[in-house]
Amino acid sequence: MPFVQLWASLPSEFGSLFRQSLGWLYARNIQIFDGRYWHALLPHRPETPLQVHWLWERLRGQSMDVAVYASWGIQTQAFPFAPLPFSLQVDVGVFGTGRHPTTQMCLIALQSLQLQGKWLLDIGTGSGILAAFGLSQGAKVVATEISFRAARQAFRNLNSVKKTDWAVIICDLASCLRKTFDVVVCNIGAEALMRLLPDLSRIMPKGFLVASGWMASEWRSLRRALRSFGLKLTSWQFLNGWMGIVAAGQPTANRPFEP
Ligand SMILES: C[S@@+](CC[C@H](N)C(=O)[O-])C[C@H]1O[C@@H](n2cnc3c(N)ncnc32)[C@H](O)[C@@H]1O
Repeated sequence: MPFVQLWASLPSEFGSLFRQSLGWLYARNIQIFDGRYWHALLPHRPETPLQVHWLWERLRGQSMDVAVYASWGIQTQAFPFAPLPFSLQVDVGVFGTGRHPTTQMCLIALQSLQLQGKWLLDIGTGSGILAAFGLSQGAKVVATEISFRAARQAFRNLNSVKKTDWAVIICDLASCLRKTFDVVVCNIGAEALMRLLPDLSRIMPKGFLVASGWMASEWRSLRRALRSFGLKLTSWQFLNGWMGIVAAGQPTANRPFEP
């Protein structure tokens, strides 16, 4: 996809500031709905996520009542807050109600993949929300979690969605697994992803990595890390300062020498 889709929701009094910023980013096809929802197309460049982040911070400095979503490689038809096809029990202290931007971007990314009959690994499952979504799409799922409390909640939630085709394992990232997977989703953070990448070729010799959990300001180092482990970016998303990606390919175990 040669362009980036940008969606924004902002109070009407910031419209002229927003339009001016869009002009600086060479936005085109600018549309406004109901006075506060915007849609525009931006040219796709390596630094576009950082530009969108700048745009979001500029608006955020004026009002807390703003939301900015951008995506490249994933087509969205509406301002994207993914509806869940099941209900979940989420205790206080367990992550994964579905409202956090990183979870939402993982759900949108998983929705864009064909999961029927595939093996999905959900690393850091929290409430089990992404694993449950995979199950609802016909995937067979293994979910790992470091917290006993979260793992127990994920177990209960997955059990209420489906009785078979899943397992929840207490484990640091994927270190305890011997199986291979078609899709790996990891919504933990940049540090966890950096630790996971050298192990990815073992658990996912070929397939898709869906990852989120870091701020857009970390974009450059993450993009470089994905590339150095042989992964090709197929989409990225930005939501209110956070980023998510889908990368495909055959990851390599050793980071090639980079001068
Ligand atoms: C940001 S939450 C994501 C929860 C859920 N997957 C979602 O997308 O909403 C990250 C989860 O990863 C778990 N976690 C943190 N470090 C971990 C590790 N090293 N191995 C496995 N799970 C980990 C945390 O306990 C937490 O439940």
